[in-house]
Order: sequence, then structure tokens, then C-alpha cells
Amino acid sequence: MSAGELSKLVGQLLGENPSVPYLPSDFSQKIEHLLLRYRSSDEEETFFMRYTLRMTEITYERLFRPAPAPDEKVLQRFLDLLQPYPEASLEYSQGSVDPASSLRRAESVHRLLGGRGRVLVMGDDDATSLALSLLGDYEIEVIDIDPRIIEWLASMGVKGRVQDLRLLPDSYAERFEAVITDPAADQELAGEFLKAAVTCLGPDGWLFWADHPDWNQGALTLLEQARTFGLELLERQPNWHCYVPHVISDSTARHFQIPAEWFHKLVQHARVWSHLYILRKTERSHQEV
Ligand SMILES: C[S@@+](CC[C@H](N)C(=O)[O-])C[C@H]1O[C@@H](n2cnc3c(N)ncnc32)[C@H](O)[C@@H]1O
Repeated sequence: MSAGELSKLVGQLLGENPSVPYLPSDFSQKIEHLLLRYRSSDEEETFFMRYTLRMTEITYERLFRPAPAPDEKVLQRFLDLLQPYPEASLEYSQGSVDPASSLRRAESVHRLLGGRGRVLVMGDDDATSLALSLLGDYEIEVIDIDPRIIEWLASMGVKGRVQDLRLLPDSYAERFEAVITDPAADQELAGEFLKAAVTCLGPDGWLFWADHPDWNQGALTLLEQARTFGLELLERQPNWHCYVPHVISDSTARHFQIPAEWFHKLVQHARVWSHLYILRKTERSHQEV
């Protein structure tokens, strides 16, 4: 990530060639300008362009105001234990966050649980379970649909089970003090993540939910759905997790007549971000799911 490279890339679309990086406030103004320029009647391409520009803006902001650094010693232990990530599977909507983000997420859980409790990690290509195990005496269970993820976690000493969360056995109902998940962006599947989480949480249970309305169009609808399931939104940790992006297709470039190479260069320097939403189960949840 480099302010100079990002400034040049954004400048290129505006016919500028900045010799020094833009001030963050100027950078944001330029993004606003580009958001107005790159919109069309094609909602999908407009959404993808908006997503790209907003994530670029957040990456720039985070260069000047980084997310809180996790504990250095624990991060080092986490890195020492971490085995190479399995290749991301598109079939299972995978996309890992970086290790500092996994630990930052685990630290948010630890702050509220205080070192004990039964925790379910629903889908864990981020190894959040491993990060949390370094912080306290938790009973951690992981489920994931992808056997490679479960084998990878097992190689680091974390127990898990290959399980599709849409087919959870009844034994999971109301068993956990906390559920942690980074759900799929697909709204229907994310809705299944939400239902499974609510089912698994015991009374007053905590849900730690990673999402961002700038890359998931359904994010706010899902939060509203969570409210109807009896989950109260208590906190939002903004731009908490950082993912390495990948270019999916060149169609947005063609649509807006931007050189495809521009997107390819951008993904080398920009990142994708998600918030951590912290919700808590209230009494209403039981009847309504
Ligand atoms: C959904 S992915 C994270 C996606 C990330 N938010 C993104 O959009 O790049 C998180 C984990 O959920 C797992 N997963 C996906 N579908 C699942 C399912 N139906 N049941 C259990 N785990 C699932 C994946 O294998 C992965 O390890």
C-alpha cells in the first residue's frame, strides 16, 4: 500500500500526475468527483465502480490513520503458529483478512467475553479461532463447509468440524456465548449465516459480524433482519478488517472506458475493508427466527 501510487492512480483518471501524495481530504474529494463521473444506468457496474473507489478511499485513510494495532507479542505468537493460508475458494466465497485483522477481531471478542466462554466460529478461513485461543481460556468450536479449512486449522492445533451451517444439527441450538463470522457477500447465503448464528447463540449471546455496506449491497438489510430476529446492534468497529482484493473481470473497465490495466494496478495498492458489527441477543430472538 502506498500513498504515492494510489495518488497517481486516482490522478490518472482526472488527468493529473501528482508529484507528491494528495492530502487525505483532497484524495476524498477526488473520489467524490469520480463517483459522480462513473455512474450509469447499469446498476451492477455502477455498484462495482463505487465499491472500488470507496475501498480505495478507505485504504488511503487507513494509511494516515491506521486501525488500532493488536498486541505486538500476541501478534508475533499468532504469526509463528500460522500456516500458509489455503488458496481461496470462489465456490465457498472465501477471502481471508490479514493476520493483524484476525487478531484485532479476536481482541474485540475478548474485550467483551473477558477470557472465558463457549465460542462458535462459523466459517474460519481467517484463523480467528487460533487468534482467540491465544487470548484466553475459551472453549472454541469451528465449523466450515470446506474440509481444507478444517485441516488447515487442525494443523495449527484448532479443532473444527466440516459442517454446512445451513444444515446444523439441533445440538448447536443456544449453546454458545458468542458466534464469530465473516459471512458470504451473497445476500441469501448471508441470511443463512445470520439465521444459524441466532440459533446457536444462548441468551444474551454476542454476535461478531464482519460486513461493509460499500461492498455488500445487502449489508444494511441484513442488520435490519438481525434486529427483527432480536439482535441489538451495540457497536460498529469501522474498517476493522483488511483483505487483499482480486480483479474479478474487466467488464467494469470496458463499461466505463477505463484501461483494464488501471484496475490491475489498483489491486496491487488498494485493499478491501469490512467493519466489525457487534450485536447482542435479546429475549425476543427465540420465537422469531
Ligand atoms: C464466507 S467466507 C468469507 C467471505 C468474505 N466476507 C468475503 O466476502 O471475501 C468465510 C468462511 O465461511 C465458510 N463458508 C462458506 N459457506 C459456508 C457454509 N455454507 N457453511 C459453513 N461455512 C461456510 C468459507 O469456507 C470460509 O472459510
